[in-house]
Amino acid sequence: MSTLSDVDLDKQTVTKAYARWAPVYDLVFGAVFERGRHAAIAAAERIGGRVLEVGVGTGMSLPHYSKSTRLCGIDISTPMLRKAQERVAEFGLDNVEGLWVMDAEHLSFPDDSFDVVVAQYVITTVPNPEATLDEFARVLKSGGEIILVSRVGAEAGLRHSLEHWFQPAARKLGWRTEFSFERYSRWAKQAHGMQLIERRTMPPFGHFCLIRFGKGEAAGSAYEPEPVRAAG
Ligand SMILES: C[S@@+](CC[C@H](N)C(=O)[O-])C[C@H]1O[C@@H](n2cnc3c(N)ncnc32)[C@H](O)[C@@H]1O
Repeated sequence: MSTLSDVDLDKQTVTKAYARWAPVYDLVFGAVFERGRHAAIAAAERIGGRVLEVGVGTGMSLPHYSKSTRLCGIDISTPMLRKAQERVAEFGLDNVEGLWVMDAEHLSFPDDSFDVVVAQYVITTVPNPEATLDEFARVLKSGGEIILVSRVGAEAGLRHSLEHWFQPAARKLGWRTEFSFERYSRWAKQAHGMQLIERRTMPPFGHFCLIRFGKGEAAGSAYEPEPVRAAG
């Protein structure tokens, strides 16, 4: 029988953590993640169509999409999603098809439902990142993209040691500090029909990346993506 160590994430801990974050989330994480959010939205808008925002949180990115982009949002945290619903009402976002409480690892959408799946600051908060990425790939249409903004842990050195040390505390806050880029590239190599098409370093401190995966043989080529490049 497997047991959770003090560094593993489980859904109950994450759900509790975001119930606590919900009232202050925008204040704490609004500005600090703004550039990453805008970069992900710009990448998604190059494709447009129907976009799924996974871990939509308080919906901070929703007003920044164009009105012609149809948006669906899911999140595991009801208090976070309630804030997103208020935001949709406040901004009159009639391009938002719906917001649902749902687990990213078990999406209740049919295969090939979306042109783009966006997940900003989410992959390091889910217990099973690779299974979650498999779900993103399943609901994505051929020719579409998965666009992530995510924390990428250091491979070695002082930052790696600090991240390792901080991990048990980070778990209680609802995320992982240790998460190497290797896990993303390994997933893309193993996932059927998915290709890694971009990795771009993002603030704050260059500890985050915009990561794009394309689905299907022509993935990425229609948009002339920048080549995959190393962080730093
Ligand atoms: C760091 S917040 C990011 C929120 C938003 N994307 C943003 O840019 O501010 C992570 C979000 O992922 C959600 N989340 C965590 N685990 C999840 C899961 N298994 N399924 C769906 N959402 C999840 C959390 O509830 C939280 O709203």
